[in-house]
Amino acid sequence: MTESLYPVPAEWARKALVDAERYRALYRESLDDPEGFWRREAQRIDWIRPFSRVDESSFHKADFAVRWFADGTLNLSANCLDRHLAERGDDPAIIWEPDDPAAEGRTLTYRELHRLTCRFANLLKANGVERGDRVTIYMPMVPEAAVAMLACARIGAIHSVVFGGFSPEALAGRIRDCDSRLVVTADEGLRGGKPVPLKANVDEALRDCPGVSRVIMFRRTGADVEMKEGRDIDWAAAMDAAPEDCPPVEMGAEDPLFILYTSGSTGKPKGVLHSSGGYAVWTSLTHQIVFDYRPGQIYWCAADIGWITGHSYIVYGPLANGATSLMFEGVPNWPDPSRIWQVVDKHQVEILYTAPTALRALMREGDQWVSRTSRKSLRLLGTVGEPINPEAWGWYHRVVGEGRSPVIDTWWQTETGGMMIAPLPGAIALKPGSATRPLFGVEPALLDAEGREIAGPGEGALVIKRSWPGQMRTVWGDHSRFFETYFTTFAGYYFSGDGCRRDADGDYWITGRIDDVINVSGHRLGTAEVESALVAHHSVAEAAVVGMPHEVKGQGIYAYVTVNAGLEPDAAMRAELISWVRKEIGPIATPDVIQFAPALPKTRSGKIMRRILRKIAEGELSSLGDTSTLADPSVVDQLIANRTLPV
Ligand code: WTA
Repeated sequence: MTESLYPVPAEWARKALVDAERYRALYRESLDDPEGFWRREAQRIDWIRPFSRVDESSFHKADFAVRWFADGTLNLSANCLDRHLAERGDDPAIIWEPDDPAAEGRTLTYRELHRLTCRFANLLKANGVERGDRVTIYMPMVPEAAVAMLACARIGAIHSVVFGGFSPEALAGRIRDCDSRLVVTADEGLRGGKPVPLKANVDEALRDCPGVSRVIMFRRTGADVEMKEGRDIDWAAAMDAAPEDCPPVEMGAEDPLFILYTSGSTGKPKGVLHSSGGYAVWTSLTHQIVFDYRPGQIYWCAADIGWITGHSYIVYGPLANGATSLMFEGVPNWPDPSRIWQVVDKHQVEILYTAPTALRALMREGDQWVSRTSRKSLRLLGTVGEPINPEAWGWYHRVVGEGRSPVIDTWWQTETGGMMIAPLPGAIALKPGSATRPLFGVEPALLDAEGREIAGPGEGALVIKRSWPGQMRTVWGDHSRFFETYFTTFAGYYFSGDGCRRDADGDYWITGRIDDVINVSGHRLGTAEVESALVAHHSVAEAAVVGMPHEVKGQGIYAYVTVNAGLEPDAAMRAELISWVRKEIGPIATPDVIQFAPALPKTRSGKIMRRILRKIAEGELSSLGDTSTLADPSVVDQLIANRTLPV
């Protein structure tokens, strides 16, 4: 494989916060003297009571724990807001760019964001929310979403943000799992000119959530929505009545900050729980050094706040650093495929952080959409969420950045809280497709199938050998599932679920998930989730779902479905099942292919052989491997004969 190398430009080496020598020294220190390293780095956060203990984590069953700075206290909303007021209270905290380019945007200074957050925190309290209570946030990309998150953090309530693209069913499941009593939403969202019926979705979800007694609704579009007397509250009217003074609550470093549901290989999505002290240190540190962020720069993370990237790099990391964070309501290709670059020019964005899937989609539209814009303000280009193919990397670097800006590929996960492997722009030479080197305190290893560490170059399962401050603390309500999911595949290690290659230089190349998780347009989905949605349909007897390569989405969803006896599957049923899955989970889970199969390949003990299904979906028919252990090998020929192409 030929690999191009982009050495650190001289100017970056000279001016960046971390150059090559400093990276080496600090990385060494972070592993050799973690106590000293983190004691110092944690000073970037304002602690109310200083911590004396640093890392008390263990990945071993006997004394299993993930715990950092445990006796320290702080308030993360105060770190993101109050402490900036004296020096940069009038600086923009959030620049909001609405869906419609002709509509008026908003800029909220730190002072304004602080005021709104205090008011909203008081509103939550007035509606019975107490420290430790869960609040579900189902919002479009408006500053009020960040206000709601920060207000929870201010009073010690635990927020659970649910992506606005999830269906009422998916929302209801997430509300019930963490037992939220209050939901924050909007009348409608707006994406690409189309309304998203958020309030109607909440109303539908709440039919199955008897525990919810309050809904606070922000009016985004002014649509005519139903308001349920005694339950639903209008944001604007209630905010006017809420007092402005709301002192931040002193929280323990290990008190929960938020729950964020994410998909795994088995069962329903799990509530990943993050606490506040270590998370604050981790997101603020990584945001600063990976983006080489300096106050005053306009920074844009184009993720949705419904995902971890939005939590860590639209809200907490940048605001803890006093940054100006741009929040975009719309989509990259509306009204036309130059929208992202128009927004960059309009707001003079210097740092852009987006997903490979968006780049691949825009790349297909042709360079003219990019070249008609200036983009001179851009100085750093980041990516996250899925492996970036060298073509998309090259396009980002050459066409978007005109060779001037480093492309920073950041590998991390909902579970890791923040970036883990990424090239620091002043320190590490870039390789298209490689996330390169671990950040401070991150000790990755590659394991072979027997769980032995691979030394030097090689490929294996990506694990992390010791805790880092941003690590998730537990699965909400199921601590043993936390341990089982991440620390038992390879005893004593955190297992990421990803495969990875390390080259001769020591650079890391993520190869993708090696469990039953698929990554569709940068969105994580469990194949089991899609399967259980399918089998919930009255016509379906059995379903097996695997990923398939997809040019734009990275991976697509390929579903094998066996219908109930006596039914004749046809195009109408296919369409019906597709819309069923959209309704059960949301549009992101729309199957690309549904192949009706009279039978699925099973072992004699009845286990579905997914390896074979994956190969068929990938079109790799010549490398199906050993099929002799199947109960009925002829099933495979049938599947191949009926292989279905995406519609
Ligand atoms: C994948 C998103 C390759 C990976 C922050 C991981 C990546 C999953 C990269 C987590 C990258 C994320 N290169 N793969 N730079 N970043 N992934 O929890 O498979 O939504 O396990 O967190 O996305 O997805 P999640």
